[in-house]
Amino acid sequence: MSLPTSLPELLALVDFDQRSLFISAAAIAFNPTFWNIVARREYRTKFLTRAFNGNRQAACYALAATIFSLGLLRDFLYERALRDQPSHPALQGEYINYAAYALLAVGNLFVISSTWQLGITGTFLGDYFGILMDSIVTGFPFNVTSAPMYYGSTMSFLGTALLYGKPAGILLTLHVLVVYLVAIQFENPFTAGIYAKRDKEREQAKAAGVPYEEKKEL
Ligand SMILES: *[C@@H]1O[C@H](CO)[C@@H](O)[C@H](O)[C@H]1NC(C)=O
Repeated sequence: MSLPTSLPELLALVDFDQRSLFISAAAIAFNPTFWNIVARREYRTKFLTRAFNGNRQAACYALAATIFSLGLLRDFLYERALRDQPSHPALQGEYINYAAYALLAVGNLFVISSTWQLGITGTFLGDYFGILMDSIVTGFPFNVTSAPMYYGSTMSFLGTALLYGKPAGILLTLHVLVVYLVAIQFENPFTAGIYAKRDKEREQAKAAGVPYEEKKEL
């Protein structure tokens, strides 16, 4: 048996009678939807910062913990979905295993190093809380890809799919990729707008000869 080379071939190897498959797909789509809705609402109304008595740092950490937990739940549901799915012999060779470990290693390296570079608030939507980075991070892994978090996570999904030898995992990984590509399209212009506004205010402060201060009030 050889590897599936087209989407119809791949689909034929997936057991769509398993409810866990759809639960996993829903969890994958839910997470970025959730954090974008919450973060934009925070940007507009500061409802989270208010709930934390004006402490935007604490509010952002609370959202970070929530997003992280949702990620763990999503990963758990993904593994459960894979266990309910048929394996494929072509995905069970030694070389497939090496590829799986390589994807998991590089994927985790991207995710961990970008978190290291950005910090917790930089990683978890701090800009929506008014916690802006001083300047754009250009070091590794951002010199390799513009969205190391998303591509690293996608690689980890694929690595897990290959490790389990499950075609359904490849299908769910494609779903992950599409969800992240949509998220990037949705998020990038918005955060660019947040930074453009900050830069404009900095310019105006400079032109007026006053020191630039981030707004501290809500
Ligand atoms: C990215 O930065 C790292 C660390 O500074 C460096 O080792 C690597 O060669 C760079 N990669 C690219 C593609 O520029």
